[in-house]
Amino acid sequence: MKIQCRNLSKFFGAGAQRLTALDNIELQVQHNEFVTLVGASGCGKSTLLRMLAGLERADQGALLIDGRHVTDPGIARALVFQHYSLYPWLTVLNNIKFCRRLDVHRRHSTSASVEAASGRADALVRLMGLAACIDAYPNQLSGGMQQRVAIARALMGRPEILLMDEPFGALDAQTREVMHDLILHVHRLEQSTIVFVTHDVEEAIYLGHRVVLMAPRPGRIDSIYEVPLPRERTRDMKHAPQFLALKRELLDRIRDTSGIETDLDLLDQLSRNGASAPQGD
Ligand SMILES: Nc1ncnc2c1ncn2[C@@H]1O[C@H](COP(=O)(O)OP(=O)(O)OP(=O)(O)O)[C@@H](O)[C@H]1O
Ligand SMILES: [Mg+2]
Repeated sequence: MKIQCRNLSKFFGAGAQRLTALDNIELQVQHNEFVTLVGASGCGKSTLLRMLAGLERADQGALLIDGRHVTDPGIARALVFQHYSLYPWLTVLNNIKFCRRLDVHRRHSTSASVEAASGRADALVRLMGLAACIDAYPNQLSGGMQQRVAIARALMGRPEILLMDEPFGALDAQTREVMHDLILHVHRLEQSTIVFVTHDVEEAIYLGHRVVLMAPRPGRIDSIYEVPLPRERTRDMKHAPQFLALKRELLDRIRDTSGIETDLDLLDQLSRNGASAPQGD
């Protein structure tokens, strides 16, 4: 098993203010699996991903990768955020090579390893369609291009585990479709294990082998769905009855667990109060 979360819990704050961000998370992810996480805002998706990245410690339970306890971030795990988080003072090519440069320095590089890194950077540049802009700076790029640079940078160290937190959330629908096929292609090619957070249920089904649905207060896994589609995905599958049925089921379940009814009650209360408010001076 690549990733094992055993009764993982995470709390923020103390005493009466203590918030259970994650409550007894039990999740196993296999090598080369693509798992997507969905759920209402605040249900702990980003917290879980940050724990997998080694950026947060568990308060209870255990998190194992390849059977070893996770204590720190590592080069074998790469994290991509929603907002591109590129280094603004570096060109596209140098952004992509940046982490590799650190790694190479640490390992007392040989000219062969520098050459291999350079070849990989070139291949990623071509794969991501960035060849025309390698000397540009991030502020000269569109959102979609910046995100492709961020993904190329994450892939540069050939991570075994790719952790993605709403990576396409800020992109338009057309660019997002291109990115979906690109990430599926990379996943096939590199045999990586991917844990991918999204608000977009359609994206979660199209990309995932399994969809993990989380719920808030306390943050927990509500249910896990096997996606009833062949692993090789094609866009026409988005119209398949089993795709649409799962989409409906997930949307209903997210709404049921999100507490949105309470919010609608509040809205109702708000408009009733507004109607009885005094008019003018
Ligand atoms: N550093 C922190 N300190 C205190 N509370 C935190 C911290 N990080 C997260 N939380 C709380 O933990 C809960 C889970 O947050 P998290 O960001 O993991 O949710 P999420 O599912 O990613 O939400 P969203 O869909 O809005 O991104 C939230 O209630 C949040 O306010
Ligand atoms: Mg989040």
